[in-house]
Amino acid sequence: MRTQVGIVGAGPAGLMLSHLLHQRGVESVVIDTRSRENIEETIKAGILEQGTTDLMTQTGVGDRMHRNGFVHHGINLAFSGVMHRIDLHELSGGRSVTVYPQHEVLKDLIARRLADGGDVRFGIAGTTVAGLDGDRPTIRFTHDGQARALECDFVAGCDGSQTYTRFLIPEGAIRTDFFRQYPFAWFGILAEAPPSSDELIYAHSDRGFALISTRSPSVQRMYFQCDPATNPGDWSEDQIWDEIGARVGTAGAVIKTGAISQRAILQFRSFVCEPMQYGRLYLAGDAAHTVPPTGAKGLNLAVADVHVLDRALGAYYDARDTGLLESYTRTVLRRVWRAQHFSWWMTSMLHRFCDATDFDLRRQIAELEMITSSPSAAKVLAENYVGLPLT
Ligand code: PHB
Repeated sequence: MRTQVGIVGAGPAGLMLSHLLHQRGVESVVIDTRSRENIEETIKAGILEQGTTDLMTQTGVGDRMHRNGFVHHGINLAFSGVMHRIDLHELSGGRSVTVYPQHEVLKDLIARRLADGGDVRFGIAGTTVAGLDGDRPTIRFTHDGQARALECDFVAGCDGSQTYTRFLIPEGAIRTDFFRQYPFAWFGILAEAPPSSDELIYAHSDRGFALISTRSPSVQRMYFQCDPATNPGDWSEDQIWDEIGARVGTAGAVIKTGAISQRAILQFRSFVCEPMQYGRLYLAGDAAHTVPPTGAKGLNLAVADVHVLDRALGAYYDARDTGLLESYTRTVLRRVWRAQHFSWWMTSMLHRFCDATDFDLRRQIAELEMITSSPSAAKVLAENYVGLPLT
């Protein structure tokens, strides 16, 4: 088999890249070890930056998002017993975010790729890649019991944080020591309940962080900071609701409870590898970087990476111009590090660290007071939260 771009991974990065390339007439094949059902049903984050929704709209995959997603013009910061609203829309010059779950984005992209005749193969096994130093790399894998060899011009490594493709870069040619582990995690739940708030609530409290988010008028997503070793099954539903209430209720929010249909522990890490390319291999999304979930940047960064990669590949196929491919890492890392800083900043401002002293707590409150009382400080948060325009 032969294609122009072989894409390893059918997550947000891989599927969006395949979709963008198709629109400019560049062929690709997408492979993933997971089944389509697994990809379409795994619950992940749910906040789309303005640039992500714009790109989906402009490229014809935004219809369901516009019908079923919720545009949010603001967020709330709760601390010291008071709720403060940050007007994202006004502070960012008219930009906003959309609540639309990642797996719904993936459903839309898969449906569109298949409708456009795209080649997306689920449930593959035994992936190997050879020839990245030459100009005809080959991806080998097994699909439906048959061994396949896919010859390509380029390989896109979009295989997420459990990446295989990142390890194709020889040790001496990559730095993987940009890493930070946090001493806490998030306990995430999905609950069958009406919304507790019109807009998201990020709560700082003596008991630790909590986040009230949403998925639909009847399904809510909430998180609270916990020990990374927590076993979610150890908590009764009452304990969970009491804990969330104790962290957010002091600021006046009334949490509407309901049956908890899903629970998960989300680990907190920051990671970047540099460079994000080697020979004919280009990494995008979580294969190259991880952010803690506080800033809701993971999916959006993946989309921003492939937006750049699509243009670079386009310049190559239009005019054999390799300039944008050569500068791919440099171009995307500026946004990646901006998002790394933002995610770390939101995390450190809102969470209780295990060694926190009263000094640290007072300093966090001072910072939150600055954000909620100074329009210039609030603007920094708003601009980063809605996301910088895709360049
Ligand atoms: C979510 O709804 O899953 C969500 C929202 C905001 C975040 C992180 C996750 O900062």
